[in-house]
Amino acid sequence: MDYFRYLDNRLHCEQVPLDQIAQQVGTPFYCYSQATLERHFDVFNNAFGTSDHLICYSVKANSALAILDLLARRGSGFDIVSGGELERVRRVGCPGNRVVFSGVGKTETEILAALEQRILMFNVESHSELLRINTLAGRLGVQAPIALRINPDVDPITHPYISTGLKRNKFGIPHTQAMEIYALAASLDHVQPIGLDCHIGSQLTTLDPFVDALKRVKQLVIALRRAGIPLRYLDLGGGLGIPYDAHSIPPHPERYAEALLQELDGLKITLILEPGRVIVGNAGILVARVEYVKEGEEKRFIITDAGMNDLIRPALYDAHHTILPVMRRFDREEILADVVGPICETGDFLARDRMLPTFHSGELLAVRSAGAYGFSMSSNYNSRPRAAEVMVSQDRFAVIRPRETIHQLMEQETLFA
Ligand code: LLP
Repeated sequence: MDYFRYLDNRLHCEQVPLDQIAQQVGTPFYCYSQATLERHFDVFNNAFGTSDHLICYSVKANSALAILDLLARRGSGFDIVSGGELERVRRVGCPGNRVVFSGVGKTETEILAALEQRILMFNVESHSELLRINTLAGRLGVQAPIALRINPDVDPITHPYISTGLKRNKFGIPHTQAMEIYALAASLDHVQPIGLDCHIGSQLTTLDPFVDALKRVKQLVIALRRAGIPLRYLDLGGGLGIPYDAHSIPPHPERYAEALLQELDGLKITLILEPGRVIVGNAGILVARVEYVKEGEEKRFIITDAGMNDLIRPALYDAHHTILPVMRRFDREEILADVVGPICETGDFLARDRMLPTFHSGELLAVRSAGAYGFSMSSNYNSRPRAAEVMVSQDRFAVIRPRETIHQLMEQETLFA
């Protein structure tokens, strides 16, 4: 459930009409609802009830400081994948012991920075990364807490670009090598194996793959404990999907938590979850203005001032995002249309072959479910300044990141003299 709805046929975020924000901030802009973010975090967190657990929101989904700050104040920890994300969570005052660090390519600089912040654990993705962390922790004279990210070889049944837990994916350590590499970890002086991690993919719309993966890693935790490696944390990653349209209804977080807790029963361990999309996805929209409407021979093209540099998901994954007029009218006919951006690429579309109401030049439209992997994947392609970001709470809004300026785009550049 979210707080974007029509009041008097004007699309609002909470109590603020989106056309009012557009008038003051310009377009395109991302708009986030604070009440929705809080609700999504609470529903997810409460679903795990009194079980021993820590939510580590996955920063990559949306790394706006205002969002991280809001979640940190609600008790969230964070899943990070870079030195930049580490610095973001440090800036919002999150203590290191609520941070887990994933990713296959951690550099020396990033590992050292994370050791200095005393993070909760490194989710180690290879044998060579384990040795590197041991060496660097030794250099600082500390012990690095680690989990091995185990690739359980389970098919998450999602888009191939966002499935991560299959043998052919670059992520994690094959479950068949787990015992051996844990034994190595236990023998090293400067790493301490305290957990086991697994993340199988994103936008999962059924529970079975999560449960299958959990069954596999649970057996490993039991075997490792028997072998004298007492793990305290089981990190099950993120991945729970969200409804992008009325046809796909992924499981509610309560069903997800129930399924995991039932499977875990009896295994005394602190559960870590790394949700990203399910927290922010439907808490944000992208608002754009229609520049032109062009009648093609087969369909209509609605050309907006937002393009694939602002929201790349449709171009990259053929992702579906619902498009709504900001001002609703009931007298419009619907016609087959593409909503496209100004970028010089055929792949620059926000929606393709969609039945949409007639839009006119100058009108505003909203692209729903854009809070996750929207702004965080945006770029300056075609030398386009990135969009503004706005946060709404009740009847109030503030710009949390101003629109970039063309000057900013090139201020760091020099000519080769
Ligand atoms: N943990 C790890 C280790 C991850 O790799 C990811 C996402 C998450 C947690 C959070 O997953 P979520 O709960 O958001 O599904 N750009 C793609 C999604 C890429 C996901 C990458 N990893 C998209 O726009 O669909």
